[in-house]
Amino acid sequence: MSTERNLEVVEQFFSGPRDLDRLSLMSDDCEWFNGIGKFPAAPGQTTFVGKDEIGRVVLGRAPSPTPITGREVDRYDLTTARFHDVHTVADGPYVFRQHHYSATTLQGRDYANFYGFLFRFDEHGLIDRVWEHWGTLAAYEQLFQGDLVVHDPDEVLMTTPSVRLRLDLERPVERDVIERCLEVAVHAPNGSNTQPYTFICVDDPDRKLAIAELYRDAMQGFMDRPRTHAPEDNVDRTTEKQQRIARSVFHLRDHLHQVPVLCVPIVAGRTDGFGPGAHADRTSVFWQASRWGSVIPTLWSFMLALRARGLGSAWTTLTLFREREMAELLGVEYDEWMQVGLFPIAYTHGTDFAVTPREPAADHLRWNSYKR
Ligand SMILES: Cc1cc2nc3c(=O)[nH]c(=O)nc-3n(C[C@H](O)[C@H](O)[C@H](O)COP(=O)(O)O)c2cc1C
Repeated sequence: MSTERNLEVVEQFFSGPRDLDRLSLMSDDCEWFNGIGKFPAAPGQTTFVGKDEIGRVVLGRAPSPTPITGREVDRYDLTTARFHDVHTVADGPYVFRQHHYSATTLQGRDYANFYGFLFRFDEHGLIDRVWEHWGTLAAYEQLFQGDLVVHDPDEVLMTTPSVRLRLDLERPVERDVIERCLEVAVHAPNGSNTQPYTFICVDDPDRKLAIAELYRDAMQGFMDRPRTHAPEDNVDRTTEKQQRIARSVFHLRDHLHQVPVLCVPIVAGRTDGFGPGAHADRTSVFWQASRWGSVIPTLWSFMLALRARGLGSAWTTLTLFREREMAELLGVEYDEWMQVGLFPIAYTHGTDFAVTPREPAADHLRWNSYKR
């Protein structure tokens, strides 16, 4: 078989008509190496053998099973494919082709990657082996990671700040994103797996305005409060660090009504002596820890899931000074539920965040006894 013909087959493989059966260019026992090992249909597998497997997994002819995370694997739409910088060389039974590939994915994203393909032809002129070298990390991030913008769990954990100044007040937040993040978050632990919480997400402008007014009043009341000797009443507000926090805190106060979504998580049962459980000792540390511990892990997972998708939030508790009015505003039975706080949610301006400044963990760790 001539190298000319082999070159022609490779050209057809990439740029032939859409209805060309590409598998007909391959031998029955053709092998295809593509190195990624991330296809849900074949986890860990990097080499595919035979037309059936290659057609199904590599060329994506059969729908892929959904991974356990439920995050759909995206694909590029072949009808939108564009090749740039194509270089092809042939030598004996081998053809090597390198190109830059770009396309739109089925979920509407841009896909771009570099590829190098080494094809080997058998004595019948059929492709019997393909080595596909491509930016597997780029492919993984663009096709397999869905809407995630931060992929490293440690990075998500270390770079989720209270976002105030960088909340994008213009870009709407789709309800689907909130729903998906909560879907991820509800897998957090909670007491007896009863999930005694509800996340009330407010996107109605009038209701947001009313919440923002309560927040502003609550903050004013907090700032005007009589001071005690407790450390939280004696923070030095003149330091550069505290001035920076103050700028950010006031910015949130002044723009709260413009934040696309305001979330108020509530947990069933009061631990402050009010409500139906008041006759029992619901104020004990056991009940407090069990109640709060049944919502806060889910809430923090929710915030991390938002961060991983390019959104941000800030943990705020000031509205709890006005909890009864908030309850009324949101149609919550005050006697039966406690509010955890108020969580503004928006896309962030940029998705690069520094590691949050904290004291070293060693300062907060003891082995075997608190006493050193
Ligand atoms: C329990 C709790 C209550 C908070 N209350 C408020 C609040 O009412 N308003 C606000 O703007 N930030 C509030 N914050 C955010 C903290 O100020 C913020 O997490 C802290 O300054 C550290 O900043 P960083 O997480 O961005 O590094 C609260 C945080 C926590 C954990």
